[in-house]
Amino acid sequence: MKYIVAIIQPDKLDAALDELEKREVHLVTVSNVMGRGRQKGSAEVYRSHKEIGSLLRKTKLEIAVNENFVETTIEAIIESTRTGQTGDGKIFVIDLEECVRIRTKERGGVAIG
Ligand SMILES: Nc1ncnc2c1ncn2[C@@H]1O[C@H](COP(=O)(O)OP(=O)(O)OP(=O)(O)O)[C@@H](O)[C@H]1O
Ligand SMILES: [Mg+2]
Repeated sequence: MKYIVAIIQPDKLDAALDELEKREVHLVTVSNVMGRGRQKGSAEVYRSHKEIGSLLRKTKLEIAVNENFVETTIEAIIESTRTGQTGDGKIFVIDLEECVRIRTKERGGVAIG
């Protein structure tokens, strides 16, 4: 199991969710966050996101998936969010040790989706 964390441009959220749905990745956590990348906020003002100090508004997606959905999830996010410009975002893939559905007490892969 992997925990996929993607930091994307807020205006790409709808497209990302659509593309994930098309590939049957339905379960997701979304947060509004702030961050900075290599340009430290300076080179993205043209993208009209409000700056707070050196931080820009970003959107974070968190998706827990079984191994057979890792690549399709990464592809869906890239395909729906990539413009080729700085600030497109980043995807982190983290080993996920356990997942527990609280209602049923199911664990592991069966509890993920
Ligand atoms: N190493 C990192 N650790 C934590 N968060 C990061 C890291 N790199 C990027 N982020 C987050 O991702 C957001 C988008 O990063 P961004 O796309 O600007 O990456 P970058 O490395 O600067 O690449 P690019 O040169 O394409 O802009 C950042 O604002 C920050 O929230
Ligand atoms: Mg950057």
